Amino acid sequence: MSERIPRRARPRRFLMCPPTYFAVEYAINPWMDPAVPVHRARAVRQWGELRSAVEGLGHCVELIDPVPGLPDMVFAANGATVIDGRVLVASFRHAERSGESSAFERWFRGRGYRPVLAAEHVNEGEGDHLRAGRTVLAGYGFRTERAATAETARYFGRPVVGLRLVDPRFYHLDTALAVLDERTVMFWPGAFTATGRRRLAALFPDLLAVGEGDAECFGLNAISDGRHVVLPAAAERTARLLASRGFEPVPVETDELAKGGGGPKCCVLELGAATVLPAAA
Ligand code: ARG
Repeated sequence: MSERIPRRARPRRFLMCPPTYFAVEYAINPWMDPAVPVHRARAVRQWGELRSAVEGLGHCVELIDPVPGLPDMVFAANGATVIDGRVLVASFRHAERSGESSAFERWFRGRGYRPVLAAEHVNEGEGDHLRAGRTVLAGYGFRTERAATAETARYFGRPVVGLRLVDPRFYHLDTALAVLDERTVMFWPGAFTATGRRRLAALFPDLLAVGEGDAECFGLNAISDGRHVVLPAAAERTARLLASRGFEPVPVETDELAKGGGGPKCCVLELGAATVLPAAA
């Protein structure tokens, strides 16, 4: 029974960007409403608590300097995709975020990551690219474009499984699906096509469906290390589901950051295992 599976945590390194300039000044997803006030101090506090929660689980957090005028940079997951030290820097769909690409590219080059390539096609990094073992799940449709899938597969030399996203509220793959470990994924089926659901069912022996309500509180925007799962506190049913499967839910408050259309996972970009450092760093 899955409850008895001993869950093993793998220490990771993550990149985060402080929400120093976080704001909702434009609307590029259905959650953003510039008329709703953002309490930046509260966002900063919630981000700090998220960072502490991640570090408290034994993971390393590295920081990239926030850039004035780029209010969405706190959602660092979108900056790039990093696999085995290779970096594919994001190419953003919207002009409002396009300035982030050079900031992330500079950070990776400065840290000695090689190779570092700017994506040719629209590609919003780990927001749309989630690893499950050797496979990369690639969401496309709202942000990342379908043509990016082939570029990702070529660059990383990994199998890439394209998943079309169909609900604008779940515009990035990491808002609709979370990889808990190599064989376990949780998702909200309504965000995918029938073909996508079939692909997921074929790949994952343990495919957990969560309800729309929990998906709406970004319950799927979760960070799993294989054992602990950091997720928004509001996603209570998801937390119970995870606990019933032997995972340890770690609830955090991220409702202020949710005004930008994201949750915990959006704020972290995985750099690799905690022990693996880029060759030339
Ligand atoms: N306001 C940001 C955008 O619309 C939110 C990004 C959320 N990031 C994520 N990985 N889902 O681009």
